[in-house]
Amino acid sequence: MSNSFDCTIRPALTSDKEALYKLEKAVYAVAWSEAMIAEVLEEAHGTALLALDPAGAVVGGSLGRVVESEFELYKLSVHRAFRRRHIGRQLLAATLAAARDRGARQAFLEVRKSNQAAVALYEAAGFTIMSIRPHYYEDTGDDALIMNRTLSA
Ligand SMILES: CC(C)(COP(=O)(O)OP(=O)(O)OC[C@H]1O[C@@H](n2cnc3c(N)ncnc32)[C@H](O)[C@@H]1OP(=O)(O)O)[C@@H](O)C(=O)NCCC(=O)NCCS
Repeated sequence: MSNSFDCTIRPALTSDKEALYKLEKAVYAVAWSEAMIAEVLEEAHGTALLALDPAGAVVGGSLGRVVESEFELYKLSVHRAFRRRHIGRQLLAATLAAARDRGARQAFLEVRKSNQAAVALYEAAGFTIMSIRPHYYEDTGDDALIMNRTLSA
């Protein structure tokens, strides 16, 4: 599509901790701490990717965990100024491919029901709603959707 952004996607390194934390703080009202991000970057099960613009600036990122055949996506984040340019879609596809390469055969995630952008993106990527946790989020009382999809071998 004409408005697609040509980003480079690569695995995040421990040295990318600050860049991921900066992204986290810019995107979420209640952000993960730098220590939580560091844990994903440092643990053997952790998986993290970055989307970069042509100058090497971080425009998006993902965080998750592969344990045996299951992948859990914790975060998929794109800087506001770069949204609706298919960075999220590209990042999600790369994240799922990386999880599959590490042996994951099922992917799971949790998302606020009111987060229309994310729900639409996940549904377009083949995720379906597995279950609903009513009033899961304390701040807004919003429901949590648990979504999953199969990752083919
Ligand atoms: C969710 C998020 C990652 C999407 O990133 P993005 O780069 O803007 O998404 P894309 O451009 O790749 O969109 C892919 C598809 O998702 C859907 N979509 C994305 N944003 C949408 C929106 N605001 N409204 C409706 N559908 C949307 C569309 O189907 C879109 O395809 P189209 O543009 O061809 O119609 C981004 O909005 C974000 O960072 N949000 C805040 C963090 C967050 O809520 N993350 C998810 C929970 S952890």
